[in-house]
Amino acid sequence: MGKNQAADWQPDSWKQKPVSQQINYGDQEALADAIEELRQLPPLVSAIEVDNLKAQIALAQEGKQFILQGGDCAESFADCNAESISKKVRLMVNLSLLLSQKLKKPISRIGRIAGQYAKPRSQLMETILNESLPSYRGDLVNHIHFSESARTPDPKRMLQGYSYASLTLNYIRSMLESDLDQIYQLEQETENLRNLKQSKKLHQSLRQFQEMAQMFHTFNGSQPISKSLMEFYTSHEALHLHYEQALTRQDNNGQWYNLSTHFPWVGMRTASANSAHIEYLRGISNPVAIKVGPQIEPEQLVSLCKTLNTENESGRLTLIHRFGHQEIAKKLPALIRAIRAANIRVLWCCDPMHGNGRLTSQGIKTRDYADIQSELSQAMLIHAEEGSILGGLHLEMTAEAVMECTGSSYQVAESELNQAYTSLVDPRLNMSQAFELIDNLDNSIQKDSVIRQLKY
Ligand code: PEP
Ligand code: CO
Repeated sequence: MGKNQAADWQPDSWKQKPVSQQINYGDQEALADAIEELRQLPPLVSAIEVDNLKAQIALAQEGKQFILQGGDCAESFADCNAESISKKVRLMVNLSLLLSQKLKKPISRIGRIAGQYAKPRSQLMETILNESLPSYRGDLVNHIHFSESARTPDPKRMLQGYSYASLTLNYIRSMLESDLDQIYQLEQETENLRNLKQSKKLHQSLRQFQEMAQMFHTFNGSQPISKSLMEFYTSHEALHLHYEQALTRQDNNGQWYNLSTHFPWVGMRTASANSAHIEYLRGISNPVAIKVGPQIEPEQLVSLCKTLNTENESGRLTLIHRFGHQEIAKKLPALIRAIRAANIRVLWCCDPMHGNGRLTSQGIKTRDYADIQSELSQAMLIHAEEGSILGGLHLEMTAEAVMECTGSSYQVAESELNQAYTSLVDPRLNMSQAFELIDNLDNSIQKDSVIRQLKY
């Protein structure tokens, strides 16, 4: 038996456990057919790539590397086109370069991409004008349009999702192999900024960054800066267990891997002890993550970690914490201490998005930039104070000039939210807001190093 390969686990052993966020397919035969067809199709990623990412996460756990995970809340099939994919990849690569300049560490890029098609929902039904229909559960399950036929879960969507994930990944791979000039370009992106309102500081930093990218390029000619810059990993929420199971494959050593993505995570709503989703994650060899919210108690988290990382392997388990700016200081320190006391190896990653959602008086879902920045700064400070390492950042963001999150130097007012809001589920940072967040890390890092000097 290899690492994390429990003898009592099978790709379908999750079926013995309670499944929350279950999808109700009317036609069980059509479901079985779609699963069988998926099972015959080739994997989307390789076990070697998955192991490489695990090694990078292990380095991030030691503070030698940093993970940037980001992308849409819900990826859509319609966005599977060259322009949209290339903008997403460019945003991730450019942000990671800025981040490496700030943190003085290599950055691993993990997109919420090429399969982020299934969504958990707090309300499983949606009611509009007295009509109640199943909520939109991601393109892998149903269509966002509010009609009975669109909202009825269709198993064939799993096959479409597999195809779109494959097309997306294929395009990302070809871009990274050949299109480095394109990737560095920031001009196009800066055109999207609201120049007049944008702070001087952000522009200066973008210019500096652009010069740096050009300088690297001059030194390296048409060659890539380094092989590591060409690495790009995929991740998605492992929510739809039928889909995940069908793409779970055994390698020559008998190890099971989820080969639909490099880095599957289980969301906060499905990460309870003894749940089907935790049971599924337990047996695959990928690096895996769970979302950690304010409800979880230290003992529960320790127990979950022991289930998911039985051999205490480095790089295996990431805890993506998402408390909200008002809760993080109350909750995070106790969790860090409990994990340390139990001697469990994890990567701590901050998701400053999901704990900061709010509804406007008009009922629009938004997040305020200041709350997001506050949670991230607090996360850096708390980890520094606790002598632990914050090794990753998880963002919902887009390269499109949307207005979904309020505030920032982009000055998105609540009244503007309906002007450029295209997210299918949660509000994302636009490119300017994402750059600003990274740019403002300076303040937190300075405080972080002061605290470190005082402590050690
Ligand atoms: C998400 O990442 O889109 C999500 C639903 O997160 P969480 O499980 O943390 O609420
Ligand atoms: Co989300």
